[in-house]
Amino acid sequence: MTSPSHVAIIMDGNGRWAKARGLPRLAGHRAGVEALRRTVRAAGDLGIEWLTVYAFSSENWSRPEPEVSGLMGLLKLFIRRDLADLHAQGVRIRVIGDREGVPSDIRHLLEEAEALTANNRLLKLVIAFNYGGRDEIIRAVKKVAQASAQGLMTADTLTHERFAAFMDTAEIPDPDLVIRTSGEMRLSNFLLWQAAYSEFAFLPCYWPDFSERDLREAIEIYGRRERRFGGLVAQDAAAS
Ligand code: FPP
Repeated sequence: MTSPSHVAIIMDGNGRWAKARGLPRLAGHRAGVEALRRTVRAAGDLGIEWLTVYAFSSENWSRPEPEVSGLMGLLKLFIRRDLADLHAQGVRIRVIGDREGVPSDIRHLLEEAEALTANNRLLKLVIAFNYGGRDEIIRAVKKVAQASAQGLMTADTLTHERFAAFMDTAEIPDPDLVIRTSGEMRLSNFLLWQAAYSEFAFLPCYWPDFSERDLREAIEIYGRRERRFGGLVAQDAAAS
């Protein structure tokens, strides 16, 4: 069975998990961080090379202020408490999203995490923070326009590969598998460019309940898919 080398996860359902237990939404996010910790370990054990997680979208700012500041606090706590452990596990951290809009204390923490773990090789953990797919594409287009205005490139020389190099995900392979928990079936502005040929696994469980078993199940679903990238599978191509 082919295993995905890059798995991306939309960690959805924290709020509903909390509501079902009569708890505040932030308790759901706290349990979500626990699930993230377990998943990073499981991904490393399963030989996944890249794990991208949607931690905070550029649209999440519109949530009530206490929830937004609660999520910011959780991210800070996650980096402060877990960085040494992630580093010891051999995890390399990379952050995608618009850094300009991130409070400076958080931006420094994220940059510290990237710098400390820059040479790690076991698992690359990509944290999408203040991230939106459309926003990322617009920022990339602006960089292309600037490069063009400086005479560094022309419209004729723009290719998919060159454009991808202007995205936050430059040098990160496209996700093979995108998992979304909580039963919702949409992309919600996540990796719009990069997920063009990804396989999708929509799992019913809420994110705080996500376990290594669910990760294995998603990988099995992926293994049963036939990826054609717009072409034909080898057998059909030979028969035509
Ligand atoms: C979606 O659940 C989840 C989020 C908006 C945030 C994801 C964040 C975490 C898993 C924890 C924080 C992670 C880090 C790295 C600090 P929802 O709130 O939309 O749930 P609902 O759809 O049930 O309301």
